[in-house]
Amino acid sequence: MSTPVSPATDVPTKDVAADTKGGEVRFPSDFLWGAATAAYQIEGGATADGRGPSIWDTFSHTPGRVANGDTGDVAVDHYNRYVEDIALLATLGVKAYRFSISWPRVQPLGHGPVNEPGLDFYRRLTDTLLEHGIEPVATLYHWDLPQALQDEGGWVNRDTSARFADYASIMAGALGDRVQRWTTLNEPWCSAFLGYASGQHAPGIADPGQSFRAVHHLLLGHGLATHAIRAATLSRAQVSLVINPAPVTAASDRPADLDAARRVDAVQNRLFLDAVLKGHYPADLPGDAARWTRWDFVKPGDEHVIATPLDMLGVNYYQPLRVAAADTDEGSHPGTAGTRMLPPPGARTAMDWEIEPQGLVDVLMRIHNGYPRLPLVVTENGAAFDDQVGPDGRVHDIDRVRFLDGHFRAAHTAMQRGVDLRGYFVWSFLDNFEWAEGYARRFGLVYVDYASQRRILKDSGYWFQDVVSRGGIVGAPPGGG
Ligand code: FCB
Repeated sequence: MSTPVSPATDVPTKDVAADTKGGEVRFPSDFLWGAATAAYQIEGGATADGRGPSIWDTFSHTPGRVANGDTGDVAVDHYNRYVEDIALLATLGVKAYRFSISWPRVQPLGHGPVNEPGLDFYRRLTDTLLEHGIEPVATLYHWDLPQALQDEGGWVNRDTSARFADYASIMAGALGDRVQRWTTLNEPWCSAFLGYASGQHAPGIADPGQSFRAVHHLLLGHGLATHAIRAATLSRAQVSLVINPAPVTAASDRPADLDAARRVDAVQNRLFLDAVLKGHYPADLPGDAARWTRWDFVKPGDEHVIATPLDMLGVNYYQPLRVAAADTDEGSHPGTAGTRMLPPPGARTAMDWEIEPQGLVDVLMRIHNGYPRLPLVVTENGAAFDDQVGPDGRVHDIDRVRFLDGHFRAAHTAMQRGVDLRGYFVWSFLDNFEWAEGYARRFGLVYVDYASQRRILKDSGYWFQDVVSRGGIVGAPPGGG
């Protein structure tokens, strides 16, 4: 299959194509290497300085919702340790840090007056990053909705979209002089479908009908917030949305399996890509979802707001999806009927997620070829493994090194095929609270001993440091693979 190599924007393809012989791959000198985190997963300080509760506080404190009864009350205490954490981040040599802002820390009730001490934390955090020469990349919503807004319906309530735009305006007004790159939402698929259809995430509702209403209001909030950020920064800000598209493969060529894959693809991928980049929801979606919703929450003009042009699109990639037809009303993929997810055929991470770097090439090529061109960034990619501190006091996480090596090469392949990829953020900087899995799953480049809060740079952190400083991978993948 031939791939068009005619990027609409000024892709720095020149030095990408060079030096790819042997085991070496080189990225452009201005490639934005970074690491990512999210507020509730690392900050702790759950009641510090006037922070209000979020839906994740409520959810994690509800017995049975999170493994081991873990909560983000303390997490890795980043709220108190951000100065030393940023110093450690600086040793990695990264150019950028993607973090999220806790809405209830800034607006404890989700509306009304600003909690100045909470806002101050993000002023200090961004200043500290800039002092180290690290660009702050801020995400406004990484799943921690103020509980007070959930009490009024959460994302099922259309008013939440407007509240989100108000909050975006506050943050862009307060930090717009030092933060240039903004992301509105992180993975609205998770917020809507894990939060409202499967109930695995906060607020823990299992009602697919509500999930479609929620996803529409999330995307509407994204569009309104995009306008709000630009208004508050006189358009100096660059605005993006972060989604989690995944390649979807049917279990067989049987029409039933192919159709099941189509339904999963509609909810996981086209819902977001079509709405945001083409200005309309996929035509097959309302029919697929007809058993749960009449789609009456879409008002005239909404789709136009949702498709407000962006400066960049963030792609979080973890694994491909393999789908078969099933005789069930509600499928195993939330928000779809009659679908069954197949277990990964090959190697997996500690999350049981398939390791398949080619999926990253596929996802990037699909967006590149199928949608109006805009700069892309891998805003999350990484893996959980069962890391141990060795007798030498170090963490030899060779599996993670191999994982990242394979995925960086995949990103490089996509760039050689013309994808305008501007950066790559490893998930995650630090081990942290992995949502419903609690602290049982470690994704960090930095190991955290939760009892003492001691940080240890893993071998993957040293390896990443080397990649960033050399601007690419020099030498064969570890283990000769
Ligand atoms: C993504 C989330 C992130 C983290 C990784 C493993 O879906 O955005 O917070 O949990 O998965």
